Amino acid sequence: MPTVLIVGANRGIGAELARQYAALGWQVHATTRTGARPEALAGCGDNLVMHRLDVCDADQIAQLKRALGEVPLDVSIHAAGIYDREGGAFGSGPPIAPETVFAVNTEAPIKVAEAVFDNLVRAAPSRLVFLSSADGIRSNGRQLRVYGESKAALNDRIRHFAGLWAQRGVIGIAMHPGWVRTDMGGPDGPVLPEQSAAGIRITVDRLTPAQCGAFLDFRGNPLPW
Ligand SMILES: NC(=O)c1ccc[n+]([C@@H]2O[C@H](COP(=O)([O-])OP(=O)(O)OC[C@H]3O[C@@H](n4cnc5c(N)ncnc54)[C@H](OP(=O)(O)O)[C@@H]3O)[C@@H](O)[C@H]2O)c1
Repeated sequence: MPTVLIVGANRGIGAELARQYAALGWQVHATTRTGARPEALAGCGDNLVMHRLDVCDADQIAQLKRALGEVPLDVSIHAAGIYDREGGAFGSGPPIAPETVFAVNTEAPIKVAEAVFDNLVRAAPSRLVFLSSADGIRSNGRQLRVYGESKAALNDRIRHFAGLWAQRGVIGIAMHPGWVRTDMGGPDGPVLPEQSAAGIRITVDRLTPAQCGAFLDFRGNPLPW
């Protein structure tokens, strides 16, 4: 049975990814800040194992590494992320400090990936997927918000490490999940979490080693940086 790690599975796209992989019979390791199984995953069976992880907490990242031990990971998907104001992209809440946005969206995904990298190498060729955003595309000339800057900086790191990951048989990519109807994407998002997660799964399944370092959307289309 293949094994997947979903980082940030409390709600939204991460929860739906965990639910779908579990329903398909995968061994699923999923993280939430509490470590409790969220309501959205209540119906999943024993092939779902929960872990407690605030992605900015170095001790908890180390604990996740210990808990996984030598488990080979076929896929790791980092879904945890925040917008740059409370209430998501279409909310009207107060801004979140840029250093917090960068800590969660840019630095934490790489630190978690480093912690589980040996597990991915054990299952090579394996997939290391970061939920980034089309809001982080610099080349279309728009002024980026703090959120977009944090995702563009994540993309920079993915491109920086891609060559090293490829040498070890790990296909690392940036993935835009679509504009998805979640707390972050808001109620008008045209893509449902079920559709986004299904597209991500299929795209991840079809990845080839030559795509290491790519930026793809959830339908598998390449995106500009
Ligand atoms: N929705 C969209 O339209 C869209 C578009 C482009 C990219 N994305 C990206 O896709 C990813 C998932 O988005 P979403 O729409 O599913 O967002 P969401 O519904 O707001 O869910 C965010 C998830 O991230 C978790 N999280 C946030 N900070 C965390 C932390 N410090 N430690 C651990 N978990 C943390 C949340 O956990 P809690 O419940 O504990 O807060 C929650 O499970 C994000 O990286 C987002 O930037 C989304």
